[in-house]
Amino acid sequence: MEVHATPEAFRAACDAARAGGRRVGLVPTMGALHDGHLALVDHARAAGADYRAVTIFVNPLQFGEGEDFGRYPRTLEADLEACRARGVDCVFTPTPDVMYPEGFATSVRVTGVTERLEGAHRPGHFDGVTTVVAKLFHATGPCVAVFGRKDYQQWRVLARMTRDLGLPVEIVGHPIVRERDGLALSSRNRYLDPDARQRALGLVEGLRAAADAWDAGERDVARLEGLARTPVEARFDRIDYVAAADPESLAPLPERAEQMVLLMAAHLGGTRLIDNLELGVDPRP
Ligand code: PAF
Repeated sequence: MEVHATPEAFRAACDAARAGGRRVGLVPTMGALHDGHLALVDHARAAGADYRAVTIFVNPLQFGEGEDFGRYPRTLEADLEACRARGVDCVFTPTPDVMYPEGFATSVRVTGVTERLEGAHRPGHFDGVTTVVAKLFHATGPCVAVFGRKDYQQWRVLARMTRDLGLPVEIVGHPIVRERDGLALSSRNRYLDPDARQRALGLVEGLRAAADAWDAGERDVARLEGLARTPVEARFDRIDYVAAADPESLAPLPERAEQMVLLMAAHLGGTRLIDNLELGVDPRP
């Protein structure tokens, strides 16, 4: 497995793979890798990539003031080992000064799909994500890029950016990977003590309540949102949002809908967790 710290060296490795007839699969991450990330690596192969590249970079641009940039888990050696064991071909591990050299003054901004939900609660977050991912795509060159659908809005935002800019990247969204009890895998789960870990299941309970009602024929958006919200309200300290949205544009829905994504973000102490469920589209968690 090659490990590169500069975009030039990483690009040369990806170019060489393509020159040898291989298809590059990209899994952008912030490290602290778990089984969810490794499922994305596997999925890249399933999507036709026989050269798998992972990027590991805790992107300062996408964290707001008071968020967890400083304490975000950094586990590079373990991450590299996990990549090696999973058959990853190449890892790109840039540092902030390589990604954002002195005087860096450019931002990539997607409008519309970024404005509600995460965008409303984390001002500037998506500008940071789209800016770094545009740079990562540029460093990689033509590829298939796999993103987890736990960050559902991020996936939709990046698909929009890629389409709008005509980037030579195929975007694939991988279904959420969950623990046995349903909790969505997240690098931030490692912040949770056993009590908070238990309370975090409020997210899954909310999604399951909505999924049960959906299966029984409920299509009233406000009622589904209410069902999803109740267990989160009971278990979490603070809710940012529990909301249904159009699965592609993330726009608000009319009173009733045949397809939707239910999205939630809530805080347990200093930890912010997100989860979602596509209804009329996806298998339930
Ligand atoms: O989903 C993440 O881990 C990050 O937002 C990403 C896409 C790697 C950009 O920093």
